[in-house]
Amino acid sequence: STTPAAAPVQDYDELISSLPVEQTSIPIRKYQNFWFPEGHLPGIMAIRQHFKPRPDDLFLISFPKSGTTWLKALAFTTMTRTHYPLDRHPLLSLNPHDVVPFIDDLFAAGQASKLEALPSPRILATHMLYSLLPDSITSSGCRIIYICRDPKDAVVSLWHFSAKATAAKRKECFPFDKFFEMACEGNFSYSPIWDHSLEYWKESLRRPEKVLFLKYEEMLEEPKANVKRLAEFLGWPFSEEEEKGGVVEEIITLCSFEKLKCLDVNKKGCQEVAVFQVANDSFFRKGEVGDWRNHASPEMAQKLDGIVREKLEGSGLTI
Ligand code: A3P
Repeated sequence: STTPAAAPVQDYDELISSLPVEQTSIPIRKYQNFWFPEGHLPGIMAIRQHFKPRPDDLFLISFPKSGTTWLKALAFTTMTRTHYPLDRHPLLSLNPHDVVPFIDDLFAAGQASKLEALPSPRILATHMLYSLLPDSITSSGCRIIYICRDPKDAVVSLWHFSAKATAAKRKECFPFDKFFEMACEGNFSYSPIWDHSLEYWKESLRRPEKVLFLKYEEMLEEPKANVKRLAEFLGWPFSEEEEKGGVVEEIITLCSFEKLKCLDVNKKGCQEVAVFQVANDSFFRKGEVGDWRNHASPEMAQKLDGIVREKLEGSGLTI
């Protein structure tokens, strides 16, 4: 299988500029019934056309700001747990986004060939909705781990993240109330948010051996049970010896917000995210449940909760 060294992303410019556009903190465009950041669309389109998965690829997927960085750290550390001593672990000197790439960003940057060079089994990430994943991914037997978060907290987190990422280009911050309102309307990055989670939820019920659905809040509350679920899903559960030896706790500690946030690499380095350069420290802000209370009024929260509840009704999913 070959992935073109440089996917011809510019070929999509004309199509992208013809799509409906809205302005949140960044321009978003409607493509195949969903809204995406304009700068992410060339990558998404190129993936749909050119990406060649391997059957043993593991995909980590999320709505943005739902705990992707944490999931990358946990999945990478769990999957490579016999490769590195924890005191000389790659995550001590690399950001989780350096060890688990976003395929969207690599394709957008014309660097898809880097994916070919990765040894199997690869761990890859994307924010794409399930219905937009190419058949090559959904029918090739790849495993998917999805992380879901209270949409209100994800919206707050994205607002802070976008403000930081666009600070150099914009003098004024996009108003939070309007940002939140657009999320309620579904005219929002990778949205509607409820569809994003619902698509993966349904797939996790249909193919539980291939799609694992995790929740950010549950992981914070019960990290050990969730990391054990993750290892089992990967087909490599922790042995009794590992459990007795405290391996699960060591992984949780290494990947914890407090630990990662304080590492030099995460205080100083940066990432290319589509068209923006983003400081690594913007991926570690508060790491808490319920920060929406510091930004949204109870009425705003009720509105989004009500919409989400209605849209998820009967699915068995609550977020
Ligand atoms: P906040 O902005 O609410 O603090 P993503 O990784 O999908 O971009 O999501 C970023 C959110 O996850 C941020 O939320 C960030 O602080 C939080 N986060 C990052 N690393 C974490 C970790 N190790 N444990 C818990 N939360 C983490």
